[in-house]
Amino acid sequence: MQAPGVSLAQRQGLYDHGYLILRGVLDQARVEAARSVITGALPEHERRIVAPAAVATHPNVIGLFQNSDIASILADLMGPFPPVVSCQVALTPGHDDLGGAPDTHVDGGWNGVIPKRAEEIDPTTHRPKDAARYYGINDEVRGSNDGLLWMDPQRRLSNGSYTALVGVCLSDQSQPGNGQLGVLKGMHEHVEKVFQRQRSSGGVIGAEGIDWPRIKIDSRERPYCNGLPNSIRALGIERGKANASLPDWPWQELTPILMEPGDAVIALHSLPHTPTPNFGPNPRINVYFRIRRLRPENPHEGSRRVAHGVSDHPDRGYFGQYLDYPDHYDPWQTSIDRLCDHWSEWDGMQDLLLTDQYKKA
Ligand SMILES: [Fe+2]
Repeated sequence: MQAPGVSLAQRQGLYDHGYLILRGVLDQARVEAARSVITGALPEHERRIVAPAAVATHPNVIGLFQNSDIASILADLMGPFPPVVSCQVALTPGHDDLGGAPDTHVDGGWNGVIPKRAEEIDPTTHRPKDAARYYGINDEVRGSNDGLLWMDPQRRLSNGSYTALVGVCLSDQSQPGNGQLGVLKGMHEHVEKVFQRQRSSGGVIGAEGIDWPRIKIDSRERPYCNGLPNSIRALGIERGKANASLPDWPWQELTPILMEPGDAVIALHSLPHTPTPNFGPNPRINVYFRIRRLRPENPHEGSRRVAHGVSDHPDRGYFGQYLDYPDHYDPWQTSIDRLCDHWSEWDGMQDLLLTDQYKKA
């Protein structure tokens, strides 16, 4: 099946780069309707990770995706998905450096409170030496930004996941340095291989699995939550050194997603990404939707408790609650299998994958 509205070249780009930009997919009236809801509720000098629910669920904001051409294009590329009930409104004020360097990550990791001193981290497990103090008994403490230490009670899977990140652009981001989403272009396939290696190892999938220490120590001896496997971070730096396409861009490993209001980007969950500092005078406004392809066997598809559209951990309730699953359905094993074969959730890419050029070795 070929996705209408998306050319073969665009689908090849999605495969190769891990993302696809839809130019001018939304009309300016729709853009302006959403912008006015957001800027009316969020002071432009304030950066909010989680917008008030009234903004994130407002019909003009949800409507950027729901029932838009973006949704129908994604349905053609991916297949069916439950309706979205919320989203992430990401506003970076003008002249905001985000506190320093971008923090590139794969979505779904935990980013909670950790010790401030390097000597408090166990160098072998990369966990706090006094883990119960930070993680709670049995690692049951919820992190900030709705992240969770583990997706499943058995602690096989530490990374939440979905299928596609959709970013809708509501401000001029056509020139680098205006707070663009930055991505490690083409690294989605390498991230999939990391998940495959972790699965083959019989250990944890995600942070605390092989190649992925949960807490690392930075050059100033400060612990930080590590959103990337070691091999991916190293490969990103190596590729960045060879990339001189944007000489004034400080982060050569990152490709800035250049968009104008009404454009949108569709990226695979496995594509490492980060917001970048906004050196420009105007607020950077993007609205993100996290979409997971419908899993018909899952009894919680479409439940508001999952908060489809905003959640990066849809195998648990949005607020971290464990959901009841029937014995015949293991949501976490299903997610592990999808993380290790991410194109299996993209119906509209299957014909491409069968061509010689794209057949996996
Ligand atoms: Fe993210």
